[in-house]
Amino acid sequence: MLLFSFSAYEDIAQQLRAVASVQVGRFTVGRYDNRELHASIEGPVSGEHCLILGTIAPPDECLLSVTLLAKTLKKEGAGKITAVFPYLAYSRQDKDKPGESLGTAWIGALLKSSGIDQVLTVDVHSERDKQLFPIPLISLSTAPLFADAVKKYRLTDATIVAPDNGAIRRCEDVKRAAGMPMGETPYFEKKRTEKGIIHHGPVGKVGAKVVFVDDMIDTGGTLVSACEKLRSVGVEEIYILVSHGLFTESSWTQLWSLGVKRIFCTDTVPLRLGIEAANIAVLSVVPLIRERLSWLDKGVRRMTVRGE
Ligand code: R5P
Repeated sequence: MLLFSFSAYEDIAQQLRAVASVQVGRFTVGRYDNRELHASIEGPVSGEHCLILGTIAPPDECLLSVTLLAKTLKKEGAGKITAVFPYLAYSRQDKDKPGESLGTAWIGALLKSSGIDQVLTVDVHSERDKQLFPIPLISLSTAPLFADAVKKYRLTDATIVAPDNGAIRRCEDVKRAAGMPMGETPYFEKKRTEKGIIHHGPVGKVGAKVVFVDDMIDTGGTLVSACEKLRSVGVEEIYILVSHGLFTESSWTQLWSLGVKRIFCTDTVPLRLGIEAANIAVLSVVPLIRERLSWLDKGVRRMTVRGE
């Protein structure tokens, strides 16, 4: 496999290059004087399985750079292109509301028309995302990483709580992977209104120590509101496990005054410079990606043998 990686993921790329079957793919994406983007690749790619490690998250030029590179690889005869997006932006635009863009479907169509054959990501937002994508969307669960963290930080006696309905399945996956008693998972009913998030709950029994599990922290609105509710029922010690740490703007910092002791996230989104990271533990998704790439590689080789 040839790995074409964008600089934001250099740490992950370095570790993936240590895999025997991964070779470095060399390319540049730059701008002409007139500011148009332009991609160029070095070396042959004909018949190769090419991996593009990068992001389509804002700034928007990331999306354009990835798709331009993919189209160039396909034009030069790449056999298969797998986009490795550790965090899949646009995945929350998965609800078909009248008059509003259905961003997930549009992104899927755009990636397909750019020559991308499949996308490998970590903890995709919803099952609907997979249905909206016209190409295979492989999502790796972070439950094994979180289960290790729960055991290492002695949190197996805490109540695992879902900040909304969508997170219940994630909570169950973590409990199962950590060997914790399953039982009912306490959760919150969440509504987004023009004035912000309204939470009802918790629904279910919650102990004095709580671990929230969710796919992401973006502005932090969801978790701030859920922590306020937990405080009002006497919970004092809260931990947060999220796959993607976007940490947009600064509202999320209120969490530190709401009983949150530590936030665990993964390295799917590089931590913004200047972020106060003392109580943020970053877990690496490299083992998950490495394992899946070795399967994909074997699959591609089998297909090549049959083709011969
Ligand atoms: C929502 O369905 C997601 O799972 C997250 O709970 C949410 O998108 C996080 O966003 P924020 O941190 O801005 O509330």
